[in-house]
Amino acid sequence: MIGIIKGTGACLPEKEVDNNELARIMDTSDEWIRERTGIIRRHLISGETTVSMSARAAERALENAGVAAEDIDMILVSTVSSNVVLPSTACAVQELIGASRAVCFDLNAACTGFLFALNTAQAYFHAGVVGKVLIIGAESLSNLVNWADRGTAILFGDGAGAAVLVAGEGEFPQLVMQSNGTKGDVLTCSSPFDRGKDSPVKADMAASQGETYIQMNGQEVFKFAVRQVPKCIEELLEKCDKRPEDIDLFVLHQANARIMEGIAKRLKTDISKFPMNLMEYGNTSSASIPILLDELHRSGRLKKGMKLVLAGFGAGLSWGATYMEWDA
Ligand code: UT7
Repeated sequence: MIGIIKGTGACLPEKEVDNNELARIMDTSDEWIRERTGIIRRHLISGETTVSMSARAAERALENAGVAAEDIDMILVSTVSSNVVLPSTACAVQELIGASRAVCFDLNAACTGFLFALNTAQAYFHAGVVGKVLIIGAESLSNLVNWADRGTAILFGDGAGAAVLVAGEGEFPQLVMQSNGTKGDVLTCSSPFDRGKDSPVKADMAASQGETYIQMNGQEVFKFAVRQVPKCIEELLEKCDKRPEDIDLFVLHQANARIMEGIAKRLKTDISKFPMNLMEYGNTSSASIPILLDELHRSGRLKKGMKLVLAGFGAGLSWGATYMEWDA
């Protein structure tokens, strides 16, 4: 048994902030951001939360799949930026959508999170212990961004995407998943609960709630993505006995248009096979792949039988790719 994606959904915050608006609050320009990243605008929360966006995206995916919330066996949420720590985002979603039978947990693999959640779900399908799974990638990165740091603030956006998987016949999907913690320092965000050497019991609570923002060595992350992702996709294709020209679409984490171009070039594949929506949403970390899948699905670009490679990469460092044939 494998899980087959039968429905998708997304939820983007209403508030849109374009590059010119950012240029009014920091030393940057629309021209610089477009040239270096491809991003034109992003959606940022203003009232919405990671939980509320997740629940909305989930409801849309369930409706799209024709599956009732009560029939879901498992909810997996990939996020690094939820408004809740306890209960998990997945449990909060369970309550909001009424998925009373589901077992729920969250997963943190940064921008690779949706891909790892998908593969985790597949392992449960393969073990025969689930029949219907809801996976969600959701982020409110605007809460973790230092708005005084133009090197990171211009990149990120908020949003959520979801997919409903239903058990069907098929072989376990080919996949590649990798992590390298020794390079973790190139993209970090410390926790407000990291109180250093002080015992949490004795620590001065106010002083310990230090500023906790995303910090990134952009060039290192860029180089990592352009080197590792093509290698990882090549490894995946070899496992599938396929070549890049056999693939209809490469659905990649939406980080930067230049990263996409670099990956396409290394795979000697036309950039038109790498759909992009980062112009509209920026980098939404683990939400980017499911938001893109939903757009492709609803616009009719995904056709039954299409051969897809999904690939994610980001903090950890972590990266991975999965092969699938579209069957929604
Ligand atoms: O999900 C994974 C998440 N991370 C990523 O995807 C990040 C990958 N990295 C990148 O996308 C790129 O490295 C960035 C877009 C972040 C930066 O582009 P870059 O071409 O690597 O620029 P840079 O960091 O080398 O900076 C070039 C110049 C510097 O000025 P000087 O030293 O040449 O005078 C920066 O200070 O651009 C300056 N700069 C900016 N200028 C205007 C940096 N950020 C900005 C900005 N606006 N927002």
